Amino acid sequence: MKKILIMAALLASLDCLGCAAKPAEIRIVPAPENLETGKGTLNLRGISINCDPALDMPSIRAVRQFADRLSLVSGRTSSVATPIGLARVVENGKFKGLFFIKDASVAPEGYRISVTPRSAIVRASSFNGVLYALQTLRQMLPLSIYGTKPDTDAKWNIPCCEISDTPRFAYRGLMLDCCRHFWSVDEVKKVLDVMAIYKLNRLHWHLSDDQGWRIEIDKYPRLTEVGAFRNGTMIGGDWESNDGIRYGGYYTKDQIRDVIAYAAERGITIVPEIDLPGHMQAALTSYPELGCAGSQPQPYEVWTRWGVSRQVLNVGKESTMKFLEDVLGEVADLFPGEYIHIGGDECPRDEWKTDPDCQAKIAELGLTGEGDISAESRLQNYVTARMQKFLASKGKKIIGWDEILEGELSPGATVMSWRGTAGGIKAASMGYDVIMAPTTYCYIDYVQSSDLTAEPFSITHQWTKGDVAERPISLERVYGYDPLAEIPAGDQSHILGVQCNLWTEYIATPEHLEYMLFPRLMALSEISWSKPENKDFDAFKGGLAARQLPLLDMFGINYRKLDQ
Ligand code: ACM
Repeated sequence: MKKILIMAALLASLDCLGCAAKPAEIRIVPAPENLETGKGTLNLRGISINCDPALDMPSIRAVRQFADRLSLVSGRTSSVATPIGLARVVENGKFKGLFFIKDASVAPEGYRISVTPRSAIVRASSFNGVLYALQTLRQMLPLSIYGTKPDTDAKWNIPCCEISDTPRFAYRGLMLDCCRHFWSVDEVKKVLDVMAIYKLNRLHWHLSDDQGWRIEIDKYPRLTEVGAFRNGTMIGGDWESNDGIRYGGYYTKDQIRDVIAYAAERGITIVPEIDLPGHMQAALTSYPELGCAGSQPQPYEVWTRWGVSRQVLNVGKESTMKFLEDVLGEVADLFPGEYIHIGGDECPRDEWKTDPDCQAKIAELGLTGEGDISAESRLQNYVTARMQKFLASKGKKIIGWDEILEGELSPGATVMSWRGTAGGIKAASMGYDVIMAPTTYCYIDYVQSSDLTAEPFSITHQWTKGDVAERPISLERVYGYDPLAEIPAGDQSHILGVQCNLWTEYIATPEHLEYMLFPRLMALSEISWSKPENKDFDAFKGGLAARQLPLLDMFGINYRKLDQ
């Protein structure tokens, strides 16, 4: 395979943005599986576009959007037809134009593109495959294809090439914490826009935590009336401080439906998270009867500081189980994806040791401690299993943070490995599906360089003595991660994919959020999509400088500049 580089055909776009006029290598991100460049180019300006009517409506709509934008920016109309029998015509190789053909032999989410000086033929078997082919075509065109201003001086050529491309992993995700700080629908959509360009397909939406409840639940209005707002926030890294400014927000169900639809149009499924049975202080503030006897401090308050609250749900009470099922029922009805994330991380079980309801439930279930698995730990297993069963009755599967593996876990659960890679390795060996999201490579709330004086305050600053971070999660570190590296060959099919997590305790503005996300999100794109043999950090970084970062500039994104 030739190196995955598309050369000077794209220079016009760089010129028009005022970038350096010297020849540059443009590299598609994420690197495709196979790309062979040929001689010559195909001019897409005014090209006729034909869609196989066998493609689904969302695919045809996506092609039409592409055609409309191409017409606008290139200054010549490209109309889209859906002629019957198109696939046969294309087989004959007689026609000029850009063709989109449904081809069941192409892998899910994969696509093939064949470009000659007369035609470009795109083949895909799925909506996402069509979307990803369009994203690759855009990456071969001048940058102004992403804009709305005519750029008639640009050369609307794409290089002759043969591309066949499939993702390495089916799950390519980003977790966004909307609890510690709240992100508007517009900001979430902006993130989705960029995820789509880089072929990421899951947004894990962290919607409940100690510091704020962010999703409207009809049966429990106080969750948002009370639980969505806190009376201030700690300042910087000072645990004892409080800025005294009331802070909060939540998403209405209509807003959530809007975001789900927006994501779906971009090939992205939302995985909502309701974190239980810990990280529930906002819910406890809304409905104190969900808490444990003697829980202190009282009254509950939506937490104004970071960390892990020791105040957790009283899971010994049937009424708490009903609350959880009611909430998860509404969440399951709202979100169309197959997975609901039920958290499960960092649940201190001290309160359960003395709470009479929890102890009675432990006795009723006959739970006993053994080794380092306590009876209270098994009580959490019981909660996980009940929610898993309840959600299965709604046609949903659960994902949980790797703590759900402690003790017993029912078959069919998916484990999200965050405390390093050990949980994921173990879960896969036990036959569970796994998403790798280890702190050691994928926590993009951590600082991006070892020089703490040069970076905005972060969780790494909070933990580090002195000015040097030992293990920053730099662009190169994220890029260097191979989610299968430590997984025995026989277990690898259980690794569904990889995710970066952006916790937002120390991130309060969209500008800072974007600084933490980009360009590490592009590294995530490549570790989740590209085969290891096609990865090359220097070429990736060169491509960022030449093409991807100017694109982020066009989108008004405050990314972190590359290290020289
Ligand atoms: C986590 O970072 N507590 C999953």
